[in-house]
Formats: sequence, structure tokens, C-alpha cells
Amino acid sequence: MINVGVVGASGYTGLELIKMLIAHPHFRLNYLATTTGDTSVEKLHPSLYDVVSLDVSQANAQEAAKACTLVFLALPHQASMGFAKELLALGVKVVDLSADYRLIQETYEDFYCPHEDPDNLDKSVYALIEYYRQELKETTLAAGPGCYPTATLLGILPFMEFIDENAPLFVDAKSGVSGAGKKLSDTTHFVTINDNIFAYNPLKHRHAPEIKEKIKRVSGKDISVNFVPHLIPATRGELVSIYATLKEDINPIEILQERYKHDRFIRIRTQPVDVKSVAGTHFCDIYAQTNGKALFVSSAIDNLLRGASSQALVAANLMCGLDENMGIPTVAYMP
Ligand SMILES: NC(=O)c1ccc[n+]([C@@H]2O[C@H](COP(=O)([O-])OP(=O)(O)OC[C@H]3O[C@@H](n4cnc5c(N)ncnc54)[C@H](OP(=O)(O)O)[C@@H]3O)[C@@H](O)[C@H]2O)c1
Repeated sequence: MINVGVVGASGYTGLELIKMLIAHPHFRLNYLATTTGDTSVEKLHPSLYDVVSLDVSQANAQEAAKACTLVFLALPHQASMGFAKELLALGVKVVDLSADYRLIQETYEDFYCPHEDPDNLDKSVYALIEYYRQELKETTLAAGPGCYPTATLLGILPFMEFIDENAPLFVDAKSGVSGAGKKLSDTTHFVTINDNIFAYNPLKHRHAPEIKEKIKRVSGKDISVNFVPHLIPATRGELVSIYATLKEDINPIEILQERYKHDRFIRIRTQPVDVKSVAGTHFCDIYAQTNGKALFVSSAIDNLLRGASSQALVAANLMCGLDENMGIPTVAYMP
């Protein structure tokens, strides 16, 4: 068994990690921590009462390093990099779910805050599994992609060689409220979001530069990305609609099927996709349609799993030499 830990155990992605790790055949959950600690997993998450009994400590990198070979950081950006730096120096592998190791330093500092660990930033691997599988097998630091970038990149990357990069890309995204984490805000208040839908940070959201940077890294195409996220009255799930201009006629379903023919957790659908069919799973469902030179791609994920915790677990499997799909959820929360 390989000992692992979760720092940020009280949050939404932390809970998803705990649920998968207690059932994992080769990882043993040996360390859980929050800001204050001094509690138990059952107190933090009453849904786990009588299911698992584990103490939760105050987060401390030295203690985590004594208990674990690999640690998941399910923390807000900026909080993560302090822990990651210390854990890596102590020889512990790290899978970070925050934005801290996703972007090049210049982009990160333009959209987040000054970076405190540029050396490790240069060594991190972006954990978009289907595009960085080999690199993940060799790294000690995986950077979990953002939830919107995950759904967007998996949908659009197979088409980049056919897309007119002089025409802008438009990404219209909708997310359930858990995408914002457990902290309550005016926009996530029940009365605001119930029976409602609205855009937030249109064309200014921090995931736009991440999408743009990774499209360039993978395809070499420098395309303008216009990204508008919306909040919807659902707990989990993300639906991303991408609009692009093609240079030539293509069969979009054939292109998707060919690109992902070896990828167990990408499902190419011949009908428009929906969030409920992927909620509770690691699947990314993708559908595409053309109208002459107009391309529409629709991609659906569970933001807490494929958009965060199950993608982090696949990265950890790869980093530890395990089967990448070990312990990864496949059955949706239907109905
Ligand atoms: N939610 C999503 O769909 C999603 C998707 C992709 C990526 N992410 C990223 O994943 C990370 C976690 O997201 P989340 O939704 O799980 O957030 P969350 O529900 O707000 O949980 C974050 C947890 O981090 C803990 N924490 C904060 N500062 C800490 C510190 N200095 N030391 C130890 N623990 C600390 C907090 O717990 P205490 O206050 O109890 O200590 C909190 O429970 C974020 O960076 C987020 O951007 C989230």
C-alpha cells in the first residue's frame, strides 16, 4: 500500500478525494489536514459517519511528509504553493488542485498573485491526462487543470489543426455551484441562484488565459479565447459550448473518435451531451456538429471529479506507477 494524504480535507474537492481514496486498492489514506485540525473526518463530513474513522490534523508539511509518499493539496491558490514547496523538498510527491502550478509564471502573476515557488513551477506537469500522460509518469509535481479548462481543452484540442486561428474562439460555459467551493458568497446564496442563471466575469475570468496558454502549448496555435462562464442552479456538473471557425470541411465525430480511441474516460456522443450523465464520474462526454465552416463542440464533465479530484487521482496513479484508472468512478448519479 502507498500512504497518501489530503490537505484541505474539509472542502468539496477534499471530500471527493477522501471518498475515492478510502475505496482505492493501492492507496492508504494516512493523513488528513485542515487549517485548524483537531477534528475527525466524520465531524467534518457527517455523510461519512460510521463509514470511515480518521483523525484530521492541523496542516503541517513535516507531519505530512512523515506519513505520506504523496499528498493531494485541495487548497485555495496561494495557500498551496507554500505546502508544495516544503513537501517537495522533503521528497514527497504532490498533486495540487489549485492554480498555483498550472500557468507560466508571467501569466500566473498577471491573473493571481506573486509566485513564491518558481523553481517547482518550471518542473510541474499539467495534469490534463489525455495530453500529458507520459510526463505525469515521471514527475513529482502534478498541477490539476481548472474545471472549465478541462472541459474546454478536451473538447477543442482535437480540432485545432482544422480551425482558423485568425477567427476568435468563443466558449460559453455553465457550472453547478460547487465549482465555487464551500465558502458562501452573494452569488452562491440559495436565494440568488435558485431558479436563476447568470454570467459572471464575462471575458475576464482567470480560466481564459489558462485555456489560451494550453491551446498554444499543445497545438502551437495562438488563438483569441473569449470565455464566458455562467452559474446554474445545480450542485455539480459543467457544460461547455465552444464555437469556432473552420478552414475546411470536416467530419467532427470521426475526428473525435480517432483522437480519443484509446481513452477510456472520454465518451464521444452522437447526440448533444448533458451534465447528469457524467455527474459522479470521471467521464468527459463530447459531441460536435458543423454548419459549413462553423464548428460547435459540446463537452460535459463533473467539475468536482473530472474537473478536480478524479483527474488528480488519475495523475497520482500515474505518478506512483499504478494503472491510471484504478479507483476512478464510472457510474453516474442517475436518476
Ligand atoms: N470546486 C471545484 O469544482 C474545483 C474544480 C477544480 C479545481 N478546484 C480548486 O481546488 C481547490 C480546492 O477547491 P474546493 O472547491 O475544494 O474549495 P473549498 O471547498 O473552499 O475547500 C478548500 C479547503 O481548503 C482549506 N484551507 C484553506 N486554507 C488552508 C490552509 N492554509 N491550510 C490548510 N487548509 C486550508 C479550507 O478548510 P478549512 O478552512 O476548514 O481549513 C477549505 O475547506 C481550489 O484551489 C479550487 O480552485 C476546485
